[in-house]
Amino acid sequence: MTTKEYVKNLIKDPNIASITPTSKVGVQKVCGKMDLTKKVIIIEYGPATGVFTDYLLAHITADSMIIAIEQNENFVDYLTKNTRDERLKVHHDSAENVHNIVKQYGLGKVDYVISGIPFSLLDEEVREDIVKRTSHVLKPGGKFLPYQTFFQKDEHLMVYLQDYFSEAHDKYLLRNLPPMRLYEAIK
Ligand SMILES: C[S@@+](CC[C@H](N)C(=O)[O-])C[C@H]1O[C@@H](n2cnc3c(N)ncnc32)[C@H](O)[C@@H]1O
Repeated sequence: MTTKEYVKNLIKDPNIASITPTSKVGVQKVCGKMDLTKKVIIIEYGPATGVFTDYLLAHITADSMIIAIEQNENFVDYLTKNTRDERLKVHHDSAENVHNIVKQYGLGKVDYVISGIPFSLLDEEVREDIVKRTSHVLKPGGKFLPYQTFFQKDEHLMVYLQDYFSEAHDKYLLRNLPPMRLYEAIK
C-alpha cells in the first residue's frame, strides 16, 4: 500500500492513528522481546498493512501461528490479499473481542500479544477491558508488547499494565517517526 493510500485510510479512520507504518528498527525492537526459536502463538492487534506480521512470518517456526485482529476493513482486505500464509489467521474485529477469538481455536493460552492500537484514543473502560482480557488470554510468563507514540501518558496504558500484569516496563525509541514508547508487560 502506498503512503498516499495509507494516509487516505487515516483521514477516514482516526483509529489508525499513524501516517506511516512502524520503522524497521521499531519492529526489530518489539519482536526482539519474543523467543521465536520455538513454537509460539502470537496475537497481533492492529496489524494494518502487516509490517510486524511480515517480519514475524519470516522468523517464526513452521508450527507457530499468528492471530491478527484488525478493525479497519481496508487493512483486513489488504492483509488477506497480500500476506498469504496458512500460519496467519486474520480477523476483522476489535481487540476487545480477543477472548472470544482465541476461544474459537481451542488452543488454550497464548505466548505473546503485540499491539499497535492507539490506547490514548480509546475510552477508559475499553482500555481497561482490552488490557484485562489480554492478560487473561496469555500464559503465565507470557508477554504483552504494546508500542505507542512517545507522548502517551501513563493513564492511557501503563496504569492498566501495572494493575493486570506482574511486571510492566517501558522504553522510548527515538529512531521512529514519530518516536515510540515501547512497553513490555509480563503476566
Ligand atoms: C498505529 S496503526 C499500527 C499499524 C501497524 N501495526 C504498524 O506498526 O505500522 C494502528 C492500527 O490499529 C488498528 N486498530 C485501532 N483500534 C483497534 C481495535 N480496537 N482493534 C483492532 N485494531 C484496531 C487501526 O485500524 C490501525 O490499523
